[in-house]
Amino acid sequence: NLEELSKALIECQQIISDLPKETSWLLSQNLHKYQDFWCYPNFLEGIILAQKYFIPQPTDIIICTLPKSGTTWLKALCFTIFRRSQHSGGSSINPLLTNMPHDIVPFIEFLYCKGRDSQNPLLSTHVPYASLPESIVKCSTCKIIYMCRDPKDVFVSLWHFNNKSLDTDVLSWEEAFDKFCTGLSAGGPFWDNILGYWKASLENPEKILFLKYEDLQNDTLFYVKRIAEFMGCPFSVEEERQGIVQNIVNFCSFESLSNLEVNKRNKVGNEIPFKVENNAFFRKGKIGD
Ligand code: A3P
Repeated sequence: NLEELSKALIECQQIISDLPKETSWLLSQNLHKYQDFWCYPNFLEGIILAQKYFIPQPTDIIICTLPKSGTTWLKALCFTIFRRSQHSGGSSINPLLTNMPHDIVPFIEFLYCKGRDSQNPLLSTHVPYASLPESIVKCSTCKIIYMCRDPKDVFVSLWHFNNKSLDTDVLSWEEAFDKFCTGLSAGGPFWDNILGYWKASLENPEKILFLKYEDLQNDTLFYVKRIAEFMGCPFSVEEERQGIVQNIVNFCSFESLSNLEVNKRNKVGNEIPFKVENNAFFRKGKIGD
């Protein structure tokens, strides 16, 4: 209901304007501190609304990451794993051939303005575990897949993303590094975000799968099978024999995804409120750059 939404948005604006804020790497935007983590205001509105109103479907799987930890890759893998029978059976082509992963697996942060496809159980978010909508944490059947990455690579990736892709002035490398180390980055402090999910995954391994970008790079085949099992759609012996796991690994590889026309040229349309070229999400895809 539009009237209710605009009222709720006004309340959010009030909450956001009362929060502590700091200059961020992007000089045009402050980071706001909400529930002990840092966030850009355009993400925060949707988080506050989701905390209040979001009701998951029982089969939902939430992909949680800090920005630049391999979110785009993990979205492509999970979606292709989940929808594989439709694609390999030929009843439809993989929508990732013509849509970038962020347009297929929406952020919870933007559901209030974009909605969701009820046939797709995959959603994503950058918020820390402690700030997930309670409805997700309490849902006994929803699952969470978290992926972290070496902080040095996250910092390098983030710096290039901010510097090259967003149309705004940014801090110098040294200043940005100082901010990152003191915890000031979207979704940060970095270690708090990772530790929240790590501890929760130890307490509830059936609900939360904790992954590392580096492990996924080093043995993608193994982790694709692990993810499929965790999602409740393990590969059959027949599928393995047909090479379907390897096909998924290949299709979602950096070389393959980054060379799709949609990921080379277009801009993330439906998802991200700031316009970013799709190719900004595919830089090098390496460990230790
Ligand atoms: P680099 O900047 O180090 O290359 P996110 O999706 O969370 O924004 O993370 C982006 C990072 O993941 C970028 O890292 C990007 O190149 C890398 N990436 C994107 N697609 C990938 C893929 N298919 N395989 C491995 N890494 C990928």
